Amino acid sequence: MSNEFTATQLLERVTTSRVAPGNERVRKIADRIVGDLFRAIDELDVQPDEFWAGVDWLARLGSAGQMGLITAGLGFDRLLDIRADEADERAGRLGGTPRAIEGPLYVAGAPLARGESRLDDDGPHPGDVFVMEGRVVDTEGRPVAGAVVDVWHANEHGRYSHFDPEQPAYALRRRIETDDQGRYRFRSFLPPGYAIPPDSPTSELFTALGRHGNRPAHIHFLVAADGQRTLTTQVNIPGDTFIDDDFAFATRDGLVLKLEKNVAAAGYESLGVTGPFTRSRFDFVMQKAVDATEADPQARLARALA
Ligand code: BEZ
Ligand code: FE
Repeated sequence: MSNEFTATQLLERVTTSRVAPGNERVRKIADRIVGDLFRAIDELDVQPDEFWAGVDWLARLGSAGQMGLITAGLGFDRLLDIRADEADERAGRLGGTPRAIEGPLYVAGAPLARGESRLDDDGPHPGDVFVMEGRVVDTEGRPVAGAVVDVWHANEHGRYSHFDPEQPAYALRRRIETDDQGRYRFRSFLPPGYAIPPDSPTSELFTALGRHGNRPAHIHFLVAADGQRTLTTQVNIPGDTFIDDDFAFATRDGLVLKLEKNVAAAGYESLGVTGPFTRSRFDFVMQKAVDATEADPQARLARALA
């Protein structure tokens, strides 16, 4: 047998050689991606230096922990949401708060509070005191008591605790369990947007693509309750320059907050509010889970690896 191959014969060898069945699904996906890359190298006449510079970039991206920035920035995170929305529509599963990407900056195990919490108690933080409050309800409008609203957002520099060594553990991250009327509320401040780290593998690619790496100001949520489909979403703060130009393509209609300015402090003392503040009311509407997997309270990576 000859060991001299054409590119086509090589691809055939790469995708068919095996000593065991392996995993059929993994094989199918890997073979498809390898085949597409072989074709791209051929059609674009990718040069060896370009190929090896790309491999080096991928290795640096991985060791910088920035894979999740690139999946979002190249649209894959939103693509998965679009596909999930389409599947829901085909199945007639309508209603509920729109899903929005989790992003790569979630950290499990934030402190758990009942009913209400301050997120900003590592402060002081500049800017208006902000309170977000509302209910978790099902698609029939019934309150969901005991739902866990896991909330996280960036600090005033656009950085997230855990990934930023200058912030204490779980700063601006909390889990809030809804009360018997399905209510939650928290005090924090209005965060700015997020920007990809400069001088990083991610920014190298974005510069080469002529793209910016900015996200508009937003707050993330992972809402979970028994029997309900876990909801991953985020809300945007109105007025941000990047609201319709998110580098992660994650802004969604219906998820832009309405802000009430100069609300009187009465009734908010337990959150340490002493003067006029900015408030936003927002209810999370959860769909009924059709199976236990849908009600899995974990975030994306833990679910994928379960
Ligand atoms: C974020 O939510 O902050 C984020 C999302 C995608 C990529 C990077 C950051
Ligand atoms: Fe974020």
